[in-house]
Amino acid sequence: MTATLFERLGGADGIARIVDDIVAAHLSNPVVRTRFENVKDLGHLKKMAREFFGAGSGGPEPYTGREMLETHKGMNISEQEYLAVMDDIVAAMDRNGVGGDAKNDVIAILYSLKGQIIRV
Ligand code: HEM
Repeated sequence: MTATLFERLGGADGIARIVDDIVAAHLSNPVVRTRFENVKDLGHLKKMAREFFGAGSGGPEPYTGREMLETHKGMNISEQEYLAVMDDIVAAMDRNGVGGDAKNDVIAILYSLKGQIIRV
């Protein structure tokens, strides 16, 4: 049987490592770093991101955070910022050995959400 996307991302542990790398990359990415430096509880953001990737890839735990539109509404996020975040996510997958179809599947899912994130 084909492995689920959750399994191909390395399960909960693999996703946790990817999320840590994504947040670290955002904090050193000049395009988006101030956005994330201003977040009050980065631990909570990481937990929500782990759940989001887990639930969205077929994992067993539910996502308990806010919807994407509700979360990013009023932030006036630009296309450039969206691309910077996507680039950090792709680099984090590369670093953690996620390639091929799994990487492409994640990119496709996240790209489909751009209308709920950019300039909403
Ligand atoms: C690639 C698509 C993106 C996804 C899947 C995503 C996902 C998420 C998730 C799951 C949360 C947590 C929601 C919660 O706390 O209930 C969140 C929060 C946040 N996102 Fe995004 N995001 C994306 C793009 C962006 C971009 C491009 C920016 C800005 C550069 C951004 C800035 C933020 C900030 C600042 C928060 C924290 C809000 C707060 O708690 O005050 N996100 N995002």
